[in-house]
Amino acid sequence: MRIYDIITKKKQGIELTKEEIDYTISAYMSAEVADYQMSALLMAICLKGMGDTEAYHLTRAMLESGDTVDLSRFSTLSVDKHSTGGVGDKTTLIVAPIVATLGCKMAKMSGRGLGFTGGTVDKLEAITGYKATLDSNAFLEQVEAIGISVVGQSANLAPADKKLYALRDVTATIDSIPLIASSIMSKKLASGAHNIVLDVKCGSGAFMKTRESAAELARAMIKIGTGFKRNVRALVTNMDVPLGIAVGNRTEVWEAIQVLSGRGDLRLTELCIELASNIASLALNLDTGSAKARVLDAISTGKALCKMKEWIACQGGDISYIESPKKLLMAKHQKPYIAKADGYIEKILADSVGTASMMLGAGRVKLNDKIDYNAGIIFNKSYGDFVKKGECIATLYSDNDAFKNCIDILDNAIVISKTEPPKQELIFEIL
Ligand code: URA
Repeated sequence: MRIYDIITKKKQGIELTKEEIDYTISAYMSAEVADYQMSALLMAICLKGMGDTEAYHLTRAMLESGDTVDLSRFSTLSVDKHSTGGVGDKTTLIVAPIVATLGCKMAKMSGRGLGFTGGTVDKLEAITGYKATLDSNAFLEQVEAIGISVVGQSANLAPADKKLYALRDVTATIDSIPLIASSIMSKKLASGAHNIVLDVKCGSGAFMKTRESAAELARAMIKIGTGFKRNVRALVTNMDVPLGIAVGNRTEVWEAIQVLSGRGDLRLTELCIELASNIASLALNLDTGSAKARVLDAISTGKALCKMKEWIACQGGDISYIESPKKLLMAKHQKPYIAKADGYIEKILADSVGTASMMLGAGRVKLNDKIDYNAGIIFNKSYGDFVKKGECIATLYSDNDAFKNCIDILDNAIVISKTEPPKQELIFEIL
């Protein structure tokens, strides 16, 4: 087989066979296929697309390029969730203990973040002592014992995806639905869960900007997952405004505790309830109404918060942060962000808020940057609220007094207008 012929075939819009895809991935991993050849093929895929069978085989070839996690001991109770990413998305911290309370087995590998805030693992490591690296026996035994463990992603999970993603990132070939779907699903499938719920974001703070493209991505991922005989459901959700009131790392752990204590932001709470209900309904074979009743009970009885404590303690984290969440808001410097006029909050642009929080130190610009766990933003006002000039819209937290750039960005991210803006839907579709 010659990569030249495979590139030519894709350029002509002809479907690649299983053998051609397998050859391409293995030859790329062994460096027989060069980056410039792979780039040409990726661009041809971006322009000509991929059929369902091709996307399935690309996913399989990438997942088979590395380790896979065997969760068969949990039978059909193993669950996972994935969010395509956004600003203020701390749903794993909330949903994981809820579904573990209900008997699901959440054996989750999560990423570190590059960008607006840390990833889920960074947020967990913001709890002093939390160990995100466990050997695979300890990981599985913890899931067996308490129903939940969240660790950092193994370096050898779908390594072909890692190499391809780095190339796509610098060759303008990220935005192809079959490439994104196979990239995400190769890692999710390698992580082993039988039931997977996807939260596909759309809007200014997400990489899918429209509802239609997000739904198309969701359908592509469901098709791939179903091809591997997993149960997959997807929610298409709004990411025009940040999710919840907190952005950062410790600030987001604080907010997760608020939701599990029954006093969280209503939209964030609603999304977490919906995600948890869908996970529980797949794993426990319940209709979503019954699953939702159990989810609500897990929150209102405090069982899910206890489960969070048990989980964090098991992984070495200091649970005094959960018992006294105010300890999570102890940045050396705090500054109010003040409304410059009377009016309704018409926009809180999620992507700009993400950048503002990164400026405070909450996210990484480069892979090896150190995160300021205390840095972040907590909003007192939300989209649609009326504010008076001089009122505090948000509190900014930083250990480094890095407020100037952040405030300049927020000045453009937050728009106040005289007329009340229309309500924004949170969950557009469940597929
Ligand atoms: N996230 C991934 O893991 N892969 C993509 O291609 C895009 C986002």
